Parts: sequence; C-alpha cells; structure tokens
Amino acid sequence: MIIERTEDWVKERLAHDTTGHDWYHIDRVRKVAVMLAEKENADQQIVELAALLHDTIDDKIVANEQVAVEEVKKFLVEQGLPKSALYKVLAIIQTISFSKGQELSLLEAKIVQDADRLDAIGAIGIARTFQYSGARNQPIYDPTLSVRGQMTREEYRHGKSSAINHFYEKLLQLKDGLHTQTAKEVAEKRHALMEQFLDQFFLEWEGNA
Ligand code: ADP
Ligand code: NI
Repeated sequence: MIIERTEDWVKERLAHDTTGHDWYHIDRVRKVAVMLAEKENADQQIVELAALLHDTIDDKIVANEQVAVEEVKKFLVEQGLPKSALYKVLAIIQTISFSKGQELSLLEAKIVQDADRLDAIGAIGIARTFQYSGARNQPIYDPTLSVRGQMTREEYRHGKSSAINHFYEKLLQLKDGLHTQTAKEVAEKRHALMEQFLDQFFLEWEGNA
C-alpha cells in the first residue's frame, strides 16, 4: 500500500528530528488532515500523502529544498502514483509553509495547511515552540527583545527572537488564517489555551505568586 510505504519513507527521514518536526508531528497532522478531508469532501489520498510528506522538503530540515523535492518525486513515481495526483502532492508540499505566505487554491492544500497550523497551536503548539527554541538556542523570553511586526522571510528565520515572542509574531495569528470551518472550530479551544498560558506566564514572570 502506497500510504504505508510513504509512512516508512518519512519515518526514516524525520525519526531523529528535535526541532518539532518529528514523526509524531507528521502523524498528528495526517490524522487531523484526513478528518478534515472527510468533512470537506476532499480527495483523501492526496491529502494523506501530502500531509505525510509535508515536512520532508522543509528548508529547516533539509539542506536543499529542490533536491528534496526531486527525491519525493522519484519516490512517488516508484510507487506508481498517477501523474495528476503526483503533481498535486508536490504542489501542496511546496506551497503550504507559513513563512512562504502563499495563496492556496487547491482544497487539499488548504486542508493540509490547516492541519499543520492546528499542530502549531494549543498544548502541542506550546510544547513545540519551546522545543524549537531550545534547539535554536533561543531564550524562553527576553523583555529587551520587542515583538517584531512585518518582517522578511530572512528576518523571520534568522533574526533574534524568543519563544514567548513567537506567540505574538506567529502563533496567535494562525487561527484567523484557517480555511475550513472544521479547523476554525477546533482552533477556538487551542487558541484560548495559549492566551491563558501567556497570562499566567507573565504573572509568574513578574514574580507574582
Ligand atoms: P514554518 O512553517 O514557519 O517554517 P513550522 O511550522 O515548520 O514553521 O515550525 C515548526 C514548529 O516550530 C512550530 O511549532 C513553530 O511554531 C515552531 N517555530 C518556528 N519558528 C519558531 C521560532 N522562531 N521560535 C519558536 N518556535 C518556532
Ligand atoms: Ni509540519
């Protein structure tokens, strides 16, 4: 089965990731994406394959995105995936990243992006943010670093920030960028949890017991 072979292929590549893109992230995104695909009557195979493969070309993980895209393409061709599905999967994984800020037209792309974004908020989102920050030697919080507004992709990736600033620079905005009604509903609780977390964080930061 193509799905199982893709799972194995992705596991091999991401098994040792400690920047918040490990296999369990992929598996959660896949499960949520498949659920959204059912509700929104999207093509389930395309959604599931794209969800499984979405981080294997991320420039935070691979040295060269184009080389990684070619590898995914070669793998999918070997699995005998029909051309039309193949090109959709490749298009989805190349367009959904937050940092690229692209407009999406395919329903299947919107669904995979929604599922990926849901995994960046809520309890899991909080945990991943601190893991990513630790991996990048970023502080938990630094009051001397102000929250950045509009920024270039380069600034977003390499400028100085903190885990707490990342909530204001990205995570609290994700809810309003979701596409599907189902994802918007799921996001409510996760968004509220982050706000509660930040309120409590600042109380404790000030030394208010
Ligand atoms: P992007 O699509 O922007 O590349 P990802 O979704 O791949 O981001 O990011 C992976 C995880 O790391 C997410 O949980 C995200 O919130 C977190 N993350 C990304 N950039 C930062 C950062 N500068 N500081 C803290 N966490 C980050
Ligand atoms: Ni992801």
